[in-house]
Amino acid sequence: MPLPAFPIKTRRLVLRRYAADDLDALHAVQSREDVTRYLYWGPRTREEVEKALAERIGLTALSVDGDRVVLAVELAETGVLVGDLTLFLVSRENRTAEIGYIFHPDHAGHGYATEAAAELVRIAFDHLDMHRVVARLDAANTASSRLLERLGMRKEAHFVRNEYVRGRWADEAVYAMLASEWESAKTTEPFVRGLPGDA
Ligand SMILES: CC(C)(COP(=O)(O)OP(=O)(O)OC[C@H]1O[C@@H](n2cnc3c(N)ncnc32)[C@H](O)[C@@H]1OP(=O)(O)O)[C@@H](O)C(=O)NCCC(=O)NCCS
Repeated sequence: MPLPAFPIKTRRLVLRRYAADDLDALHAVQSREDVTRYLYWGPRTREEVEKALAERIGLTALSVDGDRVVLAVELAETGVLVGDLTLFLVSRENRTAEIGYIFHPDHAGHGYATEAAAELVRIAFDHLDMHRVVARLDAANTASSRLLERLGMRKEAHFVRNEYVRGRWADEAVYAMLASEWESAKTTEPFVRGLPGDA
């Protein structure tokens, strides 16, 4: 499944492949308790981040179910790395992909994650010809739910205490969007259209 050429520029951001010199910036994100609160893994040591970065650099294709690629997201103006995006190939047969995103709290509240995720959804539908894009999250992760709603994604499921994550039972929410819905989101959702002003 051929990915678009990177880097990709959006209104305020650049989506690009990870490189070895991103270690400090990735560690600054992944070592934080507030970043990992709703993730499957807890704050990572520098050695763990080094491994995670090497893995990310090695993920270059979406070929078979379960493959994923991770893109670094930086501010176009300054080159500062603000977060990353993950695109998983859930099912080639059903043309279904899953999106994920992790951003540094210092850069929260400007719509950067929404802008980047909108571009990832665009890649999934317009470039990779996906039929359905999903997102799975801890239902308590309200910042993430709001992001998905800004994209025009629909909440499809709320599973109650179905996953045992790092010592507690967590609820899981599932959001989804179909290619047909994406066509209308492109014209009706202000954050997808990229209209809101800079924060
Ligand atoms: C989930 C996560 C990316 C959301 O971050 P965020 O800063 O809320 O998202 P954005 O960068 O899109 O910013 C949106 C906020 O900025 C505001 N905003 C300001 N200018 C904006 C603009 N031009 N466009 C969109 N939103 C804008 C929005 O109103 C919104 O605020 P609100 O949620 O209080 O209403 C972030 O909390 C995170 O990385 N968490 C840790 C990792 C994680 O849990 N990932 C998700 C796993 S499922």
